[in-house]
Amino acid sequence: MSIEFSGGMADDERIVSSRALQNDEADNSLRPKSIAEYIGQTKAKENLSVFIEAAKRRGEPLDHTLLYGPPGLGKTTLANIIANEMGVNIRITSGPAIEKAGDLAALLTNLAENDILFIDEIHRLNRSVEEILYPAMEDYALDIIIGKGPSARSIRLDLPKFTLIGATTRAGQMTAPLRDRFGVMLRLELYQPEELCRIVTRSAQILEISCEPDGAMEVARRSRGTPRIANRLLRRVRDFAQVRADGIITQPVADQALLALEVDALGLDNIDRRMLASIIRNYDGGPVGLETLAATINEEAVTLEDVCEPYLMQIGFLTRTPRGRCVTLRAYDHLGLAPAEHQQPGQDQMHF
Ligand code: ADE
Repeated sequence: MSIEFSGGMADDERIVSSRALQNDEADNSLRPKSIAEYIGQTKAKENLSVFIEAAKRRGEPLDHTLLYGPPGLGKTTLANIIANEMGVNIRITSGPAIEKAGDLAALLTNLAENDILFIDEIHRLNRSVEEILYPAMEDYALDIIIGKGPSARSIRLDLPKFTLIGATTRAGQMTAPLRDRFGVMLRLELYQPEELCRIVTRSAQILEISCEPDGAMEVARRSRGTPRIANRLLRRVRDFAQVRADGIITQPVADQALLALEVDALGLDNIDRRMLASIIRNYDGGPVGLETLAATINEEAVTLEDVCEPYLMQIGFLTRTPRGRCVTLRAYDHLGLAPAEHQQPGQDQMHF
């Protein structure tokens, strides 16, 4: 196995990036529209169905809901599904897009009764905006200050009853007052290969791609638990199937296409492998602090933390300890490396 150790690669250049890329827009046709169509996340779905049904029976908006978990797992999709199931409108925005308190006030005053306001990356809201949100969430009220100096006074505007759906990859970075105002918190988990296989099969049907069950499973196994990646890999594998084979995605076709895309048998790409290799080679398997590691391999710490680590931890290649990150024996095995104490001269198979 050859592992490049030189250049940094922007996360959005990676075929296995779990962040949304521009071409993913085309994924809209693939997005499920109802809970019944939505595959996986069983726990979150079951709870959500109850909360939606109860809110509908009472004729009230759904409680404010926080969706959290790694990128690419369908937080925006789920917010749209909630709106569909509740039969209300949804306004979609994001933390960084709301720059001033007035931007948020404009959004809130344009909502109709029971509507949903979806704020993606809600942990990135600035503090002055966040403070407008507190009375809005709690009392459906907007406190605005008019005038300046001694004559300034605050007036309270009533807002329609609405639901705020927040999405974040980093619930830990939200302030406690904001987090505490969500009545429903749903944690989305990385998907199991069998669930991703069903998603790939469904997407292949919608896109009219011929895909054999083994081919779908191969794409699923190498999609690092993330539907967004599975759908992206499916499109790329289709290209290979059409140009290099007879247009049908079989297991060998998927395998060859993914190898050509440098996505290995477990879905790891160069960044993952460089990260693991660096912990092994530079830090004797760890522990090493995230910032130190990021600087060593010339990547951003947030990319490693949000994108690489959740999957590497799920497959048991990486552990987080209070003193830093450590790799496990499984990671040594996968990379074809031996831990230092057993290492024979010439046994190290990596080339830098
Ligand atoms: N496409 C993307 N995510 C999906 C999901 N969870 N279920 C079905 N199709 C999907």
